[in-house]
Amino acid sequence: LIEAVGAREILDSRGNPTIEVEVLLEDGTVSRAAVPSGASTGAFEAYELRDDDPKRYGGKGVLKAVDAVMGEIADEIEGLESTEQRVIDGAMIALDGTENKSRLGANALLGVSLAVARASADSLDLPLFRYVGGPNAHTLPVPMMNIINGGAHADNGIDTQEFMILPIGAESFGQALQWGAEVYHALKSLLKANGLATGLGDEGGFAPDISSSTAALDFIVEAIGKAGFTPGTDFGLGLDAASTEFYKDGSYHFEGQQLNAQQVTAYYRDLVANYPLVTIEDPLAEDDWEGYEHLTAELGSKVQVVGDDLFVTNPVRLADGIRRGAANSLLVKVNQIGTLTETLDAVALAQRSGYTTILSHRSGETEDTTIADLAVAVDSGQIKTGAPARSERVAKYNQLLRIEEELGDAAVYAGRGAFPRFQV
Ligand code: PGA
Ligand code: ZN
Repeated sequence: LIEAVGAREILDSRGNPTIEVEVLLEDGTVSRAAVPSGASTGAFEAYELRDDDPKRYGGKGVLKAVDAVMGEIADEIEGLESTEQRVIDGAMIALDGTENKSRLGANALLGVSLAVARASADSLDLPLFRYVGGPNAHTLPVPMMNIINGGAHADNGIDTQEFMILPIGAESFGQALQWGAEVYHALKSLLKANGLATGLGDEGGFAPDISSSTAALDFIVEAIGKAGFTPGTDFGLGLDAASTEFYKDGSYHFEGQQLNAQQVTAYYRDLVANYPLVTIEDPLAEDDWEGYEHLTAELGSKVQVVGDDLFVTNPVRLADGIRRGAANSLLVKVNQIGTLTETLDAVALAQRSGYTTILSHRSGETEDTTIADLAVAVDSGQIKTGAPARSERVAKYNQLLRIEEELGDAAVYAGRGAFPRFQV
């Protein structure tokens, strides 16, 4: 039984406040969870409650969310059975009473939801991935490592937000991570040799002042070779355009041009033909359903088309997309929807519908590693949690190393099998 619920304001990886929740069970178990925060947030995400008090943290304090947890939410769920996750999450959603969790804050709800799951697992002496995923959870996800940062995550001139490497040819998660780190270091040397800056963006990738996305891809392909690997065989490439960020007045303002959805689609058709791209996220704006239908019809058999701002981990928006044939993959961010239960519902709907799933961090992160366990628990096959550098990013990768070790002979690395719909 849940005996007490507490919360505090802590800092995230960008130096902004976020909320951490602690749950105490009757048996003495104390467990905690912390909540991440995005920069290129979707308009349809659940509401992140901030204080708007300009005297603290530029208005970004989360003391109201802390109060919501310690007050109303604690009163509602203290005394409930902690393993009744669906009942607890449902009670919090009803208590909030709004469509987008704006009264109590999705950050407040999520902190409690994740801390309750963690406390239940701890109390049963089970690893979180086993508690949530059951006896068959055994697959380690392909890490999508973001090694060049642009867009809202860096102050350089690159419009594409993320350039990722996916070690699809590795034999284990441990080997995949090692390969990724080796390419990361090869890229650093290469950028240096070309007189480019090697400072980092929000997700730990390099943020050089490069003018075009193809130039960034060329550097990455070269770095993969320099590190002794074969692009396409050992590594696939991935992009997150986060294109809502550069969509204005009906067109995409991309690398000095103004493009419509068809032209953007043609641009990606060329990229897919010229680079070993296996995944493209948010190629079009969050409301461009028609554009997504066409792009998916044209490219969806060759490349994974991922909806992030498009779906915002929301089962209702995802169901719309599935009916329309928009995208073929769901990016899963726990704080976009605000409870573990709704996150698991979105994942189940995607998987039932032949959409792949990717557990994802946010650009503002903490040392919390819940998403690593969730990726194994739901058999997502892929996880996106930044560069193989910076502690808030590698905390998740390091947790996956531990899970792989714990699973021992039962562990399977998803590798190419993460992309069942097309040839990679
Ligand atoms: P965000 O970026 O956390 O800033 O939204 C991550 C993403 O777009 O996938
Ligand atoms: Zn994204």
